[in-house]
Amino acid sequence: MTALIEAAHLYRTFDHLTAVEDVSLSVAVGEIYGLVGPDGAGKTTTLRLLCGAYRPSPVPGAIPPSIMVNGYDLLRHTDKAREQIGYLPQRFSLYDDLTVMENLRFFAEMRGLSVADWRPRSMEILAFVGLDEFVDRRAGYLSGGMKQKLGLAAALVHRPRLLLLDEPTTGVDPVTRQDFWQLIIRLVGQDGSKGTAVLVSTPYMDEAARCTRVGFMMSGHIVQEGSPSEFRKRLEGRVLELAGEPLALLRRLVEKEQGVSGVQMFGDRLHLRVEEGQAQAVMEQLEQHIPEAAGRISRLRLVQPQLEDVFMDLLERQSWTNPTS
Ligand SMILES: Nc1ncnc2c1ncn2[C@@H]1O[C@H](COP(=O)(O)OP(=O)(O)OP(=O)(O)O)[C@@H](O)[C@H]1O
Ligand SMILES: [Mg+2]
Repeated sequence: MTALIEAAHLYRTFDHLTAVEDVSLSVAVGEIYGLVGPDGAGKTTTLRLLCGAYRPSPVPGAIPPSIMVNGYDLLRHTDKAREQIGYLPQRFSLYDDLTVMENLRFFAEMRGLSVADWRPRSMEILAFVGLDEFVDRRAGYLSGGMKQKLGLAAALVHRPRLLLLDEPTTGVDPVTRQDFWQLIIRLVGQDGSKGTAVLVSTPYMDEAARCTRVGFMMSGHIVQEGSPSEFRKRLEGRVLELAGEPLALLRRLVEKEQGVSGVQMFGDRLHLRVEEGQAQAVMEQLEQHIPEAAGRISRLRLVQPQLEDVFMDLLERQSWTNPTS
């Protein structure tokens, strides 16, 4: 598959802080690559490097960085490479006093679209994001979700091959989040030789689950990469669901239980991560220890791991000094 972006050995430091450390990634035509990780992991910094907003920091003795975007070298021919990219920043701002159409015109002109081209293209892209009935509404009066859709339209107005989206749906209501993802999926699914790829950062696990491939980022490194199902396989046979009461007591008990490597709230239940091959033994121990402590089990069973389970496991296991081990 053709890589639309291929980046290698990116570093970015701010004073003494290393925000991105030896990050390499590539995204192929038709892929939706999800960058996930805790606050401050380096996701935004990575996206800024990939769109050319930041230059990589030079590191003496390290392999020099490279970023190829659809065949163009971003570090040498920045303008040409940037034409291939649509970028929706984490804190995207519109002109509140301008209408939807005027905002889009601004972005279109900034991207060098001609007068003959920008209007039909704007109508087309506004219809795509579902804002074609709101062309004359001032951006200040749009809902949060509509603003994000207008942001997406602005990022797409010059027909980029690669779309970089930094937490595009944070703070947006669940229904609009669904709409937004339908748009992303349609975008990469569109046939034709002019294939597109998306690189999106997200704090939402249901969104990560929709990506073709996920990179899990922590303290400046991509510590693990794979499809959502590959991620889940890491914990196959090692996640137990426990419901019962009182929940606080159950939580205290399981944290002390031998063979349990992690515990997490999952709505009104607990998910326990257990050591390899320990699921049965842990269940038997709990069936004994919980009633002994005057607790009650209403459900205890092995379940399919969720991405949350795997990410928590990675977070807790990764050593900060040797994140790639
Ligand atoms: N311009 C800057 N100057 C100094 N430090 C910065 C700058 N930008 C980012 N950092 C630091 O670099 C680290 C990575 O930040 P970054 O914004 O890339 O993380 P993130 O994964 O996008 O986090 P979030 O999920 O909160 O958006 C953080 O410790 C942050 O404080
Ligand atoms: Mg960020």
